[in-house]
Amino acid sequence: MPPVTRRVRKAVFPVAGLGTRFLPATKLVAKEMLPVVDKPLIQYAVEEAFAAGIEYCMFVTGRGKAVLVDHFDHAPELEALLRERDKQEPLAELMGGMPKAGTILATRQQAPLGLGHAVRCARAFTDDEPFAVILPDDLIMSDRPCLAQLIEVWEARGGNVVAVEEVAPARTASYGILDVAADDGRVARARGLVEKPKPEVAPSTLAIIGRYVLDPQVMQALETTVPGTGGEIQLTDAINATLDSQPFHGLRFDGTRFDCGDKVGFIEANLAFALARPDLRDRLAGALRRTLADVDRPEGHDTPQETVRTATPLKVL
Ligand code: UTP
Repeated sequence: MPPVTRRVRKAVFPVAGLGTRFLPATKLVAKEMLPVVDKPLIQYAVEEAFAAGIEYCMFVTGRGKAVLVDHFDHAPELEALLRERDKQEPLAELMGGMPKAGTILATRQQAPLGLGHAVRCARAFTDDEPFAVILPDDLIMSDRPCLAQLIEVWEARGGNVVAVEEVAPARTASYGILDVAADDGRVARARGLVEKPKPEVAPSTLAIIGRYVLDPQVMQALETTVPGTGGEIQLTDAINATLDSQPFHGLRFDGTRFDCGDKVGFIEANLAFALARPDLRDRLAGALRRTLADVDRPEGHDTPQETVRTATPLKVL
């Protein structure tokens, strides 16, 4: 038997969800292809994985999502045209997102039976290795890739490590919530987790977001995990099943997370990523000032738009 690797080399991207919150945009276009500024969510996620030392990415896709794999292939006609017209900058952008051959793989989740089920579809890929899970919906702006921060904690502590952040008590029912045993303010050791608890029964307000480093035991546990909350096969139930033999930690990562599965979160991500770009910042800030001035104007003080656009004082930015 070959030695079992103890490096995190593989990442699973469950991308088979239906994206119902973005209909009708997601009727034909995969949610993960929606752009934040000018790059699709899936590309941010893949770039984060490679920057964290991941070597292989497995997309667990669904029907109509083959475009997610196509996005990481050459577009020969487009490339030839850009070369012919000497459009060096867009050509460089296009080629910059191209991964090494054989590093992007894909499989299908034939029916959206839950996040745990989607991860389970990648079991032949992860084999007996620890692996990362990345949900591209959660876009993270940080100096150091969030996944690299998780892997560092995993190297020190082993077991299962997840990215967490504090949420408002009223929001616990939207997340997996940690049952905390010990907490140093950055890393929390957990004795378990509860999927989407109502605020009155939530064990804490530390919520899991879409980055995980998991022990192969979680994949084994998924083999027998039955449908849980919402009738779906939950990844959190499989993590819970390994708690007797595996340490489990949540990391408050350095960075800002944007929930791009939610309309406001997606728009906020677009604003934050655009405002961080020198080529867009000033123009966008001006446009936002004008728009917000329109929003902030007290009722009954309608001003012709042109007047507002030239004469309103800066209110928010
Ligand atoms: P969401 O809960 O955001 O669901 O899934 P969704 O279908 O993508 O979006 P909405 O709520 O209908 O708008 C969280 C992550 O789990 C994946 C999704 O693709 C997303 O990355 N997922 C979920 C699967 O791959 N398969 C599933 O069966 C469920």
